[in-house]
Amino acid sequence: MPRDALVVLGIETSCDDTAAAVVDGSGVRSDVVWSQDLHAKYGGVVPELASRAHASQVVPVVRAALAQAGVQRPDAIAVTAGPGLMGAVLVGLCYAKGASLGWGVPFIGVNHLEAHLLSGLMEPEPPAFPFLSLVVSGGHTTLYAVRGLSDYTVVSETVDDAVGEAYDKVARMLGLGYPGGPAVDRLAALGDPAAIAFPRPRLARVLDGVRQPVDDMSFSGLKTAVRAALERQPNLAPADVCASFQQAVVDVVCSRVRAAATQGDIREVTAGGGAAANSGIRAGLGALGLRVVLPPRGRCTDNAAMIAHLGRLKLLSGAPSDTLDRTARSPWSPGA
Ligand code: KG4
Ligand code: ZN
Repeated sequence: MPRDALVVLGIETSCDDTAAAVVDGSGVRSDVVWSQDLHAKYGGVVPELASRAHASQVVPVVRAALAQAGVQRPDAIAVTAGPGLMGAVLVGLCYAKGASLGWGVPFIGVNHLEAHLLSGLMEPEPPAFPFLSLVVSGGHTTLYAVRGLSDYTVVSETVDDAVGEAYDKVARMLGLGYPGGPAVDRLAALGDPAAIAFPRPRLARVLDGVRQPVDDMSFSGLKTAVRAALERQPNLAPADVCASFQQAVVDVVCSRVRAAATQGDIREVTAGGGAAANSGIRAGLGALGLRVVLPPRGRCTDNAAMIAHLGRLKLLSGAPSDTLDRTARSPWSPGA
């Protein structure tokens, strides 16, 4: 089969989005995401409710993706096999196994984080190896040096909260609902980023041209500093709190990317994961003087196009498809 002709159905059910997409050599032919708003009233994702919602939505979402792409039967299926909520991952994985048997086509289980870290490759002018990839999601914050498919080195990662998690917690303190990242991002646009001097834990500096070692990030202390400020001064303008918090996050994250680029002589950077949709992080990365390739916001948050794309890359590079004894895996580091 010519490379362009391989039509892959992607399925993503690792957290609170039920998603399916069809990708072939010409690009993304359909990309359907059903977001489970039902968790909002609990202030966070309730795993059992997520699994139930995936179980009821996976069939209509896959049907919609196939119909929009005008495809009756894909050539292969790529599915998130972890990391994520175990019950949620299993809904997609078991559905993919059944569909693979029914259609008589291969399936491949892929790593959700690896899909985020390679999302930039779907862009019209993708980054070229080697590049840096910043994965900032609800559960992970890791900066990788990417030298090829499956060749990833962790350059820096959070020792405590993930960036998305810190946004969600700050949103909760301010009563902005869940998921909090987009709400804090919107409010930050209306505030003064210099209003409150929040700490910048573990900021990387290049002092007098002397390179500092790139080491880990931390966001838990920053989150606690926001809580303490709100307790001390309950009348702080929420927009100023959001803008000042966001600026501190951006300074820390971007300092790590800059240090890694300087140390490794890597000139291209991409990002993925929900918090890569953040306006401040996007602007901060754009100001580093590197070549920056950012997926559109909808391809930063959870989607199945990235899953189909990664599965397709793997199959085309000769990776074996999976057998029915394939199980879900969490935790699971990309490339491991
Ligand atoms: O990648 P994702 O959709 O799901 C996971 O794999 O975790 O990321 C979800 C996270 C949530 O914590 C959400 O608050 C955060 O990404 N997020 C944002 C923004 N949009 C989503 N954080 C900051 N700014 C945003 N615009
Ligand atoms: Zn994700």
